[in-house]
Amino acid sequence: MNSSPIGVFDSGVGGLSLLCELRRLLPNEDFIYYGDRANAPYGAKTHEEILNISKSIFDDLISRGAKAIVVACNTATAVAIEPLRSAYPNLPIIGIEPAVKPARLSGCKRVLVLATPVTVSESRFAALLRANSSDGCEFIGVPCHELAYMIENDKTSEEIEKYMSSVFAPYKEEGFDGIVLGCTHYPLAKNEIKRAAGESVHVFDGSVGTAKRTKALLEELSLNSLARKIGTVEFISSDGSDHLERFYKKIIAVRKSNPIASR
Ligand code: DGL
Repeated sequence: MNSSPIGVFDSGVGGLSLLCELRRLLPNEDFIYYGDRANAPYGAKTHEEILNISKSIFDDLISRGAKAIVVACNTATAVAIEPLRSAYPNLPIIGIEPAVKPARLSGCKRVLVLATPVTVSESRFAALLRANSSDGCEFIGVPCHELAYMIENDKTSEEIEKYMSSVFAPYKEEGFDGIVLGCTHYPLAKNEIKRAAGESVHVFDGSVGTAKRTKALLEELSLNSLARKIGTVEFISSDGSDHLERFYKKIIAVRKSNPIASR
Protein backbone atom coordinates (compact mmCIF):
# COMPACT_ATOMS: atom_id res chain seq x y z
CA MET A 1 0.00 0.00 0.00
CA ASN A 2 2.84 2.45 0.82
CA SER A 3 4.10 2.29 -2.74
CA SER A 4 0.65 2.94 -4.25
CA PRO A 5 0.05 6.33 -5.90
CA ILE A 6 -1.87 9.30 -4.50
CA GLY A 7 -4.82 10.36 -6.67
CA VAL A 8 -5.28 14.09 -7.26
CA PHE A 9 -8.19 15.55 -9.20
CA ASP A 10 -9.59 18.81 -10.49
CA SER A 11 -11.76 19.97 -13.39
CA GLY A 12 -8.59 20.73 -15.36
CA VAL A 13 -5.22 22.42 -14.90
CA GLY A 14 -6.12 24.18 -11.61
CA GLY A 15 -5.09 21.34 -9.34
CA LEU A 16 -1.60 21.42 -10.87
CA SER A 17 -0.89 24.36 -8.53
CA LEU A 18 -1.53 21.99 -5.62
CA LEU A 19 0.27 19.10 -7.30
CA CYS A 20 3.44 21.26 -7.35
CA GLU A 21 3.22 21.76 -3.58
CA LEU A 22 2.46 18.07 -3.00
CA ARG A 23 5.53 17.03 -5.00
CA ARG A 24 7.69 19.57 -3.18
CA LEU A 25 6.64 18.16 0.20
CA LEU A 26 6.32 14.51 -0.82
CA PRO A 27 9.07 14.01 -3.42
CA ASN A 28 9.11 10.21 -3.12
CA GLU A 29 5.40 9.69 -3.74
CA ASP A 30 3.90 8.66 -7.08
CA PHE A 31 0.85 10.66 -8.21
CA ILE A 32 -2.00 10.14 -10.64
CA TYR A 33 -3.37 13.51 -11.70
CA TYR A 34 -6.89 13.42 -13.15
CA GLY A 35 -7.99 16.59 -14.97
CA ASP A 36 -11.65 16.45 -15.92
CA ARG A 37 -11.40 18.81 -18.89
CA ALA A 38 -14.38 17.20 -20.61
CA ASN A 39 -16.61 18.51 -17.79
CA ALA A 40 -14.87 21.82 -16.99
CA PRO A 41 -15.70 24.29 -15.59
CA TYR A 42 -17.25 22.84 -12.43
CA GLY A 43 -18.07 26.37 -11.26
CA ALA A 44 -21.10 26.39 -13.57
CA LYS A 45 -22.45 22.93 -12.67
CA THR A 46 -25.19 21.77 -10.28
CA HIS A 47 -24.55 20.03 -6.97
CA GLU A 48 -25.78 16.73 -8.27
CA GLU A 49 -23.55 16.92 -11.36
CA ILE A 50 -20.45 17.75 -9.28
CA LEU A 51 -21.12 14.94 -6.80
CA ASN A 52 -21.75 12.35 -9.54
CA ILE A 53 -18.69 13.43 -11.50
CA SER A 54 -16.53 13.33 -8.36
CA LYS A 55 -17.72 9.82 -7.52
CA SER A 56 -16.94 8.46 -10.96
CA ILE A 57 -13.45 10.02 -10.81
CA PHE A 58 -12.94 8.48 -7.35
CA ASP A 59 -13.93 5.06 -8.75
CA ASP A 60 -11.49 5.51 -11.61
CA LEU A 61 -8.62 6.53 -9.31
CA ILE A 62 -9.36 3.70 -6.89
CA SER A 63 -9.37 1.19 -9.77
CA ARG A 64 -5.88 2.49 -10.62
CA GLY A 65 -4.74 1.72 -7.06
CA ALA A 66 -4.89 5.16 -5.37
CA LYS A 67 -4.11 4.86 -1.64
CA ALA A 68 -5.52 8.33 -0.90
CA ILE A 69 -7.27 11.05 -2.93
CA VAL A 70 -6.66 14.78 -2.82
CA VAL A 71 -9.62 16.79 -4.10
CA ALA A 72 -7.56 19.59 -5.66
CA CYS A 73 -10.65 21.64 -6.37
CA ASN A 74 -12.31 24.10 -3.98
CA THR A 75 -15.63 23.74 -5.80
CA ALA A 76 -15.77 19.93 -5.50
CA THR A 77 -14.59 20.18 -1.87
CA ALA A 78 -17.31 22.73 -1.00
CA VAL A 79 -20.05 20.65 -2.65
CA ALA A 80 -19.01 17.04 -2.25
CA ILE A 81 -16.38 16.40 0.43
CA GLU A 82 -18.84 15.18 3.11
CA PRO A 83 -20.85 12.85 0.81
CA LEU A 84 -17.54 11.53 -0.61
CA ARG A 85 -16.23 10.78 2.89
CA SER A 86 -19.46 8.89 3.65
CA ALA A 87 -19.35 6.99 0.35
CA TYR A 88 -15.66 5.96 0.75
CA PRO A 89 -15.23 5.52 4.52
CA ASN A 90 -11.96 3.57 4.27
CA LEU A 91 -10.19 5.94 1.91
CA PRO A 92 -8.09 8.88 3.19
CA ILE A 93 -9.60 11.96 1.46
CA ILE A 94 -8.10 15.43 1.64
CA GLY A 95 -9.94 18.51 0.36
CA ILE A 96 -8.80 22.08 -0.26
CA GLU A 97 -10.46 25.11 1.27
CA PRO A 98 -9.85 28.84 0.79
CA ALA A 99 -6.97 30.08 2.99
CA VAL A 100 -9.21 32.38 5.02
CA LYS A 101 -7.63 31.58 8.39
CA PRO A 102 -4.07 32.49 7.32
CA ALA A 103 -5.47 35.75 5.92
CA ARG A 104 -7.09 36.54 9.29
CA LEU A 105 -3.93 35.64 11.20
CA SER A 106 -1.85 37.90 8.95
CA GLY A 107 -3.65 40.96 10.28
CA CYS A 108 -5.35 41.93 6.99
CA LYS A 109 -8.45 44.07 7.55
CA ARG A 110 -10.57 43.71 4.41
CA VAL A 111 -10.11 40.58 2.35
CA LEU A 112 -11.71 39.53 -0.93
CA VAL A 113 -12.17 35.75 -1.16
CA LEU A 114 -12.17 34.91 -4.87
CA ALA A 115 -13.87 31.65 -5.86
CA THR A 116 -16.18 30.07 -8.43
CA PRO A 117 -19.89 31.03 -8.29
CA VAL A 118 -20.74 27.54 -6.94
CA THR A 119 -18.19 27.76 -4.10
CA VAL A 120 -19.36 31.26 -3.10
CA SER A 121 -22.98 30.08 -2.91
CA GLU A 122 -22.16 27.11 -0.61
CA SER A 123 -23.14 27.16 3.07
CA ARG A 124 -19.72 25.68 3.88
CA PHE A 125 -18.08 28.77 2.34
CA ALA A 126 -20.39 31.15 4.25
CA ALA A 127 -19.61 29.31 7.49
CA LEU A 128 -15.84 29.56 6.87
CA LEU A 129 -16.06 33.31 6.30
CA ARG A 130 -18.32 33.79 9.32
CA ALA A 131 -16.00 31.79 11.59
CA ASN A 132 -13.04 33.98 10.66
CA SER A 133 -14.72 37.39 10.58
CA SER A 134 -14.27 39.63 13.56
CA ASP A 135 -14.52 43.32 14.31
CA GLY A 136 -11.05 43.85 12.95
CA CYS A 137 -11.28 41.67 9.85
CA GLU A 138 -13.93 41.58 7.13
CA PHE A 139 -14.17 38.85 4.46
CA ILE A 140 -16.12 39.35 1.25
CA GLY A 141 -16.89 36.43 -1.09
CA VAL A 142 -16.37 37.43 -4.72
CA PRO A 143 -17.55 35.05 -7.46
CA CYS A 144 -15.27 35.09 -10.50
CA HIS A 145 -17.46 33.73 -13.29
CA GLU A 146 -14.87 33.70 -16.06
CA LEU A 147 -11.50 33.28 -14.40
CA ALA A 148 -11.12 29.48 -14.21
CA TYR A 149 -12.34 29.19 -17.81
CA MET A 150 -9.84 31.84 -18.98
CA ILE A 151 -6.91 30.10 -17.26
CA GLU A 152 -7.98 26.66 -18.48
CA ASN A 153 -8.18 27.94 -22.04
CA ASP A 154 -4.88 29.82 -22.17
CA LYS A 155 -6.25 33.37 -22.41
CA THR A 156 -3.52 36.00 -22.55
CA SER A 157 -2.12 37.83 -19.50
CA GLU A 158 -3.66 41.08 -20.78
CA GLU A 159 -7.13 39.52 -21.07
CA ILE A 160 -6.92 38.03 -17.57
CA GLU A 161 -5.66 41.27 -16.00
CA LYS A 162 -8.43 43.25 -17.72
CA TYR A 163 -11.07 40.82 -16.48
CA MET A 164 -9.70 40.96 -12.93
CA SER A 165 -9.69 44.77 -12.97
CA SER A 166 -13.43 44.62 -13.72
CA VAL A 167 -13.92 42.15 -10.83
CA PHE A 168 -12.03 44.41 -8.38
CA ALA A 169 -13.60 47.70 -9.59
CA PRO A 170 -16.59 47.71 -7.15
CA TYR A 171 -14.21 47.21 -4.16
CA LYS A 172 -11.53 49.73 -5.08
CA GLU A 173 -13.10 52.79 -3.49
CA GLU A 174 -13.39 51.28 -0.01
CA GLY A 175 -10.16 49.40 -0.58
CA PHE A 176 -8.91 45.92 0.39
CA ASP A 177 -5.58 44.69 1.68
CA GLY A 178 -5.88 40.93 1.10
CA ILE A 179 -7.04 38.42 -1.49
CA VAL A 180 -7.67 34.71 -0.91
CA LEU A 181 -7.35 32.53 -4.01
CA GLY A 182 -10.30 30.22 -3.35
CA CYS A 183 -10.02 28.18 -6.55
CA THR A 184 -6.99 26.10 -7.50
CA HIS A 185 -6.90 27.65 -10.97
CA TYR A 186 -6.26 31.12 -9.58
CA PRO A 187 -2.64 30.70 -8.33
CA LEU A 188 -1.80 30.03 -11.97
CA ALA A 189 -2.75 33.67 -12.70
CA LYS A 190 -1.31 35.13 -9.50
CA ASN A 191 0.79 37.75 -11.28
CA GLU A 192 -2.16 39.03 -13.34
CA ILE A 193 -4.38 39.10 -10.22
CA LYS A 194 -1.73 41.04 -8.28
CA ARG A 195 -1.26 43.55 -11.07
CA ALA A 196 -5.02 44.16 -11.24
CA ALA A 197 -5.40 44.40 -7.44
CA GLY A 198 -2.29 46.46 -6.71
CA GLU A 199 1.11 45.07 -5.75
CA SER A 200 0.72 45.95 -2.04
CA VAL A 201 -2.28 43.61 -1.60
CA HIS A 202 -1.42 40.34 0.21
CA VAL A 203 -2.33 37.11 -1.59
CA PHE A 204 -3.19 33.83 0.19
CA ASP A 205 -3.42 30.38 -1.35
CA GLY A 206 -4.52 27.13 0.32
CA SER A 207 -2.19 24.75 -1.51
CA VAL A 208 0.71 24.76 0.95
CA GLY A 209 -1.62 24.02 3.90
CA THR A 210 -3.36 21.25 1.97
CA ALA A 211 -0.06 19.64 0.97
CA LYS A 212 1.06 19.74 4.62
CA ARG A 213 -2.22 18.15 5.72
CA THR A 214 -1.80 15.40 3.11
CA LYS A 215 1.72 14.61 4.35
CA ALA A 216 0.61 14.56 7.99
CA LEU A 217 -2.35 12.28 7.25
CA LEU A 218 -0.25 9.79 5.28
CA GLU A 219 2.27 9.65 8.12
CA GLU A 220 -0.47 9.28 10.72
CA LEU A 221 -1.88 6.29 8.78
CA SER A 222 1.60 4.90 7.99
CA LEU A 223 0.77 5.12 4.29
CA ASN A 224 3.68 7.31 3.23
CA SER A 225 6.02 6.03 0.54
CA LEU A 226 9.16 4.30 1.80
CA ALA A 227 10.86 4.62 -1.59
CA ARG A 228 14.09 6.57 -1.98
CA LYS A 229 13.59 7.37 -5.64
CA ILE A 230 11.93 10.54 -6.94
CA GLY A 231 8.23 9.83 -7.51
CA THR A 232 6.39 9.95 -10.83
CA VAL A 233 3.23 11.65 -12.12
CA GLU A 234 0.78 10.00 -14.46
CA PHE A 235 -1.65 12.41 -16.15
CA ILE A 236 -5.18 11.46 -17.15
CA SER A 237 -7.34 13.94 -19.00
CA SER A 238 -11.00 13.09 -19.58
CA ASP A 239 -10.90 14.87 -22.96
CA GLY A 240 -7.99 12.72 -24.12
CA SER A 241 -5.69 15.72 -24.73
CA ASP A 242 -2.12 16.23 -23.52
CA HIS A 243 -2.96 19.73 -22.26
CA LEU A 244 -2.25 18.81 -18.61
CA GLU A 245 1.30 17.57 -19.23
CA ARG A 246 2.09 20.59 -21.39
CA PHE A 247 0.69 23.00 -18.80
CA TYR A 248 2.55 21.24 -15.98
CA LYS A 249 5.86 21.47 -17.85
CA LYS A 250 5.25 25.19 -18.38
CA ILE A 251 4.61 25.75 -14.64
CA ILE A 252 7.76 23.81 -13.71
CA ALA A 253 9.84 25.81 -16.18
CA VAL A 254 8.55 29.14 -14.77
CA ARG A 255 9.15 27.98 -11.18
CA LYS A 256 12.69 26.91 -12.02
CA SER A 257 13.53 30.19 -13.73
CA ASN A 258 12.06 32.32 -10.90
CA PRO A 259 11.43 30.25 -7.76
CA ILE A 260 10.64 33.18 -5.45
CA ALA A 261 8.31 35.21 -7.69
CA SER A 262 6.34 32.11 -8.66
CA ARG A 263 5.41 31.30 -5.06
N1 DGL B 1 -10.17 24.53 -9.85
C1 DGL B 1 -11.49 24.43 -9.35
C2 DGL B 1 -11.66 25.04 -7.98
O1 DGL B 1 -10.72 25.01 -7.22
C3 DGL B 1 -12.65 24.46 -10.29
C4 DGL B 1 -12.74 25.51 -11.32
C5 DGL B 1 -13.88 25.22 -12.25
O2 DGL B 1 -13.84 24.17 -12.90
O3 DGL B 1 -14.83 26.04 -12.30
O4 DGL B 1 -12.70 25.51 -7.61
